Amino acid sequence: MKRVAILISGSGSNMVALAEHMLAGTVARPVLVLSNVPGAGGLAKAEALGIPTAVVDHRDFAGDRAAFEAALINTVDHSAPDAICLAGFMRILTPKFIGHYEGRMLNIHPSLLPKYKGLHTHDRAIEAGDAEAGCSVHEVTADLDGGPVLGQARVPVLAKDGPEDLAARVLPMEHRLYPMVLERFLAGDRSRIDLSSSLSINDVSP
Ligand code: GRF
Repeated sequence: MKRVAILISGSGSNMVALAEHMLAGTVARPVLVLSNVPGAGGLAKAEALGIPTAVVDHRDFAGDRAAFEAALINTVDHSAPDAICLAGFMRILTPKFIGHYEGRMLNIHPSLLPKYKGLHTHDRAIEAGDAEAGCSVHEVTADLDGGPVLGQARVPVLAKDGPEDLAARVLPMEHRLYPMVLERFLAGDRSRIDLSSSLSINDVSP
């Protein structure tokens, strides 16, 4: 069984989707959920799922990024993962950390990469008048949000959408896409997955 560590900073809804998919199957198991934020909502959810958790608080390292990442690596490697999933993990990682996990680390980003790397992706898609938006799962490389894209999910942008509406439409697609990409990735299959959502009635009602 493959061993997967998941890094979070917040609510952990993608972590739950990944963990539940793994726990329902026979391919992999979540062996660690680590948060850089003490008390992150995802930690309680992981504990409820019986997954070992850890906190490595970046604020304990007073800006010493190398020391923070050394503590991260020490904690993550203790769980001996085959793969690492960043899931709402909000710290920028240095090439040193990324190099340590080269070829076995994934991230989910809430845009149709290569569009809108970085933050505020839904605001930017709406501002640009895009007809569609979505999320991407990619391998993590030193190029921030720039690694090979292994899967994407598309949703329509509606005229009335604010960023929260779009986020609410994209998030469930993230929860479908990420587990599918992870499973293929663990099997050594890097063929791309593309999903799109059909509009549901509550999206089109006035
Ligand atoms: C999601 O939009 C995800 O794409 C981004 O962080 C947001 C929250 O994710 N990476 P989660 O609920 O903490 O998994």
